[in-house]
Amino acid sequence: MPWFGLGVYKVPEGEVALESVKMAIKAGYRSIDTAALYENEESVGQAIKESGVSREELFITTKVWNSDQRNDSVEEAFETSLRKLGLDYVDLYLIHWPVKEKYKDTWKVLEKLYKEKRVRAIGVSNFNIHHLEDLMSVAEIKPMVNQVELHPLHSQPELRSYCQQQQIQIEAWAPLGQGRLLDHPVLQEIASAHHKSIAQVILRWDIQNEIVTIPKSIRESRIKENANIFDFTLSQSDMEKINDLNENQRFGADPDNFNF
Ligand SMILES: NC(=O)c1ccc[n+]([C@@H]2O[C@H](COP(=O)([O-])OP(=O)(O)OC[C@H]3O[C@@H](n4cnc5c(N)ncnc54)[C@H](OP(=O)(O)O)[C@@H]3O)[C@@H](O)[C@H]2O)c1
Repeated sequence: MPWFGLGVYKVPEGEVALESVKMAIKAGYRSIDTAALYENEESVGQAIKESGVSREELFITTKVWNSDQRNDSVEEAFETSLRKLGLDYVDLYLIHWPVKEKYKDTWKVLEKLYKEKRVRAIGVSNFNIHHLEDLMSVAEIKPMVNQVELHPLHSQPELRSYCQQQQIQIEAWAPLGQGRLLDHPVLQEIASAHHKSIAQVILRWDIQNEIVTIPKSIRESRIKENANIFDFTLSQSDMEKINDLNENQRFGADPDNFNF
C-alpha cells in the first residue's frame, strides 16, 4: 500500500474529479481514496483509464456506505462501486463507519469478496479500539487497515499503538484538518525552518510516524506541493513538538456517536 495518496471527498463528479485525479497521477500519485458516498467513482474510474498508467501500478480504495450495511446490500454496493470505477478489482475495500449491529455482518461479506479475489485487501474506517476488538472476536481475517480522522490536533496515540500491536495499518483522513491547521504557529515555525509549507510538514510527520496519508486537493499547485515531502526529514524535536499538539480535537463525527 503506498504511504501517500489523493483523497477525493467532496470532489464533484465530472470535470473537477476527472481533472484532479489525472493531475495527481501525472504528478506521481499512485493511490486514490474514494467511497460510494462521495459519488465520484465514475470520474475516478475515467481518470484511471485516461491516465496512461497501468492498473497494476495504481492502488484504488473505495468504501461501503452505511445505508448498504443497514439494508444488507453490501455485495450489491460493491458491484456498483466496481462498475462505476470500471475496474475488475479494488485494492482496498473499507467499512466506512462502524454501524452498530451491522459491521460484523458487513465484515463477513468483505471476507468473502477477499477470498474471491475481488479485493486485494479489506479494512475498516472510523473504528475505535472497542470496535476493532468486537470485530476481531468473530473475524476470520483481521482488518488490514483502519482509516481514521488523524492530524496533529487529534493524533490518536492509543489507537495508533493498538493498531501497531495488532499489525493493522493506520491511515489518516483529514490529515490537514480539512485545511484548518494551516496557520498554526508551532507548525509554521517548523515549516519555516525547513523551507516547507505547513501542509508538507504535517504530511511528512505522518510518513515518519508510519501513517498512510491521503490529503485532498483539487488544485494542481497543492496536489504537487503535498506530494513534495520526500526530500526533507523532521528532527526528533520537530516530531515531539508536533506530537505535543494533540488535543483530541475532532473536526468530523465521533465514531461512538454518529447519526448517519
Ligand atoms: N473514512 C472517512 O470517514 C473519511 C472522512 C473524511 C475524509 N476521508 C478521506 O480523507 C481524505 C482527506 O481528508 P479531507 O479531504 O477531509 O481533508 P484534508 O485532506 O485534511 O484537507 C483538504 C482541504 O485542505 C485544502 N488543502 C489541501 N492541500 C492544501 C495545501 N497544500 N495548502 C492549503 N490548503 C490545502 C483543500 O482545498 P483545495 O481542494 O481547494 O485545495 C481542502 O479544503 C478525503 O478526501 C477522503 O478521501 C475519509
